[in-house]
Amino acid sequence: MIVGPGVALGITSLWSSVGGEHGAEHFLHQMLGAGPGMKEDWLDVIGCPSCQHALHFDNGYTSSLVCQLCGNQYTIKNRTPVMVRQEDLEILTAFNRQYQRMRLKEGWRPFTAEQSLTLPFGRPSGYPTIYWEVRRQSYSRLRKLLSEQGPLPSMGPVADLGAGNSWLSYRLAKSGYRVVAVESNLEEPFGLGAADIYLAHTSFLVVQGDLNRPPLQAGKFSLVLFNASLHYARHLASALRGTVQALHPKGRLVILDSPITRKPRLGSGIGDRHFGRRELHDAIVAAGLRPHWITVRRGPRWWVAQVLRRARGKQPFSLPMIVAEKA
Ligand SMILES: C[S@@+](CC[C@H](N)C(=O)[O-])C[C@H]1O[C@@H](n2cnc3c(N)ncnc32)[C@H](O)[C@@H]1O
Repeated sequence: MIVGPGVALGITSLWSSVGGEHGAEHFLHQMLGAGPGMKEDWLDVIGCPSCQHALHFDNGYTSSLVCQLCGNQYTIKNRTPVMVRQEDLEILTAFNRQYQRMRLKEGWRPFTAEQSLTLPFGRPSGYPTIYWEVRRQSYSRLRKLLSEQGPLPSMGPVADLGAGNSWLSYRLAKSGYRVVAVESNLEEPFGLGAADIYLAHTSFLVVQGDLNRPPLQAGKFSLVLFNASLHYARHLASALRGTVQALHPKGRLVILDSPITRKPRLGSGIGDRHFGRRELHDAIVAAGLRPHWITVRRGPRWWVAQVLRRARGKQPFSLPMIVAEKA
């Protein structure tokens, strides 16, 4: 599921349909960058998760990518590059299973096609009333930032790390951004298995990856987004370091919808947490970025929910937008 309209075949079947090595490589390159009007090669932007160096197709031009620096090899599974270090695969598989189980237990349900295309608008059933309201508020704030301060689509590619079903990647791709959606989970309904609905309408690259080791080439990105995902990082410093490395000199990191409290605490029990404000601020600074904390306006429902949390003895939290640039 690498590309958008018009690509319906797997790498293996394509391989058998092209003649000659050069022809095959060219065809695969085209396929990684396919989509109407999209000429650039996606191999320009994805990178080795170990060293963030550029990749090339392996000598046999089959279905794997090889790092030009460290030689690590990454397979392409059902048209999706699996850009995960071998030693992280098992951890991510276990996490994905647990995440899916917990979400279904909480009442999250698969979206209909219409609901998927409407996100973050609409009110899909099974979610807490406030959930998509909050996501909408944050999304609107992001749009405001992009329209007023950029980056604009012409300024370089965007990475959506922990993309889930990739609704934000879809929204940005529709606005003209060149987007790479990175997610540990390739399954439906909450992972990139659900991206087909979006890829039927626009083009972006879908990659299996670990946000702790962003599979993004150094110095290429104008924007790296963590949309409700940074608080799942097992190694915050490594996730931020990889992000800084991926950004070009004027690039931006944007963190949305990660819960912030005064003191760090555990989250819902699937490896997530609430960042302490100072903890996250210091981690961003240590990674070499200058953070700006932006309050996102929430409605009365949000404030009632926070009061109720406090009444139940739980710590209230906020969901600011954090924008950071290279120091
Ligand atoms: C709350 S969901 C947010 C999904 C999507 N960004 C959104 O806004 O709807 C958090 C996502 O982060 C993904 N995630 C968590 N840990 C990850 C990791 N180490 N690498 C990649 N994705 C991860 C989860 O699989 C999940 O899809």
